[in-house]
Amino acid sequence: MHALSAIAPPFPAASGPLGAEVFAGLTASPKRLSPWLFYDERGSGLFEQITALPEYYLTRTERSILETHADAMVSAASGCGRISIMELGAGTATKTGLILQAAVRRQNTVTYYPIDVSETPLLQARDRLEADIPGVSVLPRIADYTRELARVETSGERRLVLYIGSSLGNFEPLEALGLLQSLRETLTAGDKLLLGVDMVKDVSLLLAAYDDSAGVTAAFNKNVLVRINQELGANFDINLFQHRAVWNENHSRIEMHLVSLVAQQVQIPALGLKLFFEPGESIHTENSYKFHDEDVIEMLERSGFHLSDHWTDSREWFGEYLATAW
Ligand code: AVJ
Repeated sequence: MHALSAIAPPFPAASGPLGAEVFAGLTASPKRLSPWLFYDERGSGLFEQITALPEYYLTRTERSILETHADAMVSAASGCGRISIMELGAGTATKTGLILQAAVRRQNTVTYYPIDVSETPLLQARDRLEADIPGVSVLPRIADYTRELARVETSGERRLVLYIGSSLGNFEPLEALGLLQSLRETLTAGDKLLLGVDMVKDVSLLLAAYDDSAGVTAAFNKNVLVRINQELGANFDINLFQHRAVWNENHSRIEMHLVSLVAQQVQIPALGLKLFFEPGESIHTENSYKFHDEDVIEMLERSGFHLSDHWTDSREWFGEYLATAW
C-alpha cells in the first residue's frame, strides 16, 4: 500500500467547493442545493438525454432558430470586419457548430474560444469541431465563468460572445445582472453578445419540460443526492425523495425540488452533519427563470449593452438577443 493512501482523507470533496455548497445549503432553512451540483459525469449525461426529450422543447427550439438565422447573426455581429467567437459554458457545443459554420462561410476561418468547467466535453467538442468544420481553430479554456471571466486577446478581431441555452436562467436576477456586467468589463466597445433565453409561455408546457413522462428529469434532479452519497459518504435513500417541478408566477421561474416523502434522518459523515427532514419538506435544487422581451432588454441595457437584433421561433418560445457593448 502506498504510504500516502493511508492518510489521504476518504472524501477529499468535503474540503472543496462541493463540500462548502452542500454544507451551506443543507444547513440553511429552507434547505437548498445549487444547480451546478447536478453536473458530474452522470448528471451531464442525463442532461444530454433531457435535451432530446419530446417535452424538453428548449434545445430543439433554439437549434431551429440558429439553423434559420446563423448567417444573419454572424453578419450582424461582424459588421464589415472579422470576428472571433467565445462561448460561456460551452459544454458539448453541439448548437455552436451552426454559428461556426456561418462564420467560416463569411470569413473562411474563425477562432473559437469555448469556456467550461468540465474538461472532457470541451476537448471532445474541440476534436469534433476541428474535424467537421475546416477553418475552425478551437482554443478551449477550463474555467468557471462565474468566478474567472478573463479578457481574451483576439488580435484586433471583434469578439462575439455566445451565452446560449438559457443558462442565464439558472441565476437570480441580481446575479444574472452581475454576470453580464462582469462580462461587459472583459469586452471592448463594439464587441457583441448573443444571449439565448427561454421565454414565458403556457404553464403546462413549462411544467412538462421539467417533469417528463420518462422520468429523466427526475433522475437528473435526484442525481445530486447520488453524488452527495458518493462524494461525501452520505446515506440519502433516493426512493424516499420525490422530484417536483413547480411554476413560481411571482418570480417567473420553474423551480425544481426534492421532497422528502417521510420523516427521516440523513447523515453526511464527511461534513459531520446529521440532517432531519419533515414529511413533505423540500430541498430546492434549481430555478430556471423564464423571460419576457422587456426583462432581457432591460438587463442588457443595465449591464452595458444595447440590443442590436433579435430572433425567435414561430411560436416565440425561445429568444436570441444580439447586443453590442457600448
Ligand atoms: C441547462 C439551465 C438551461 O434550466 O432548462 C433541464 C437545466 N434543469 N432540466 C434548464 C435543466 C432541468 C437547464 N439549463
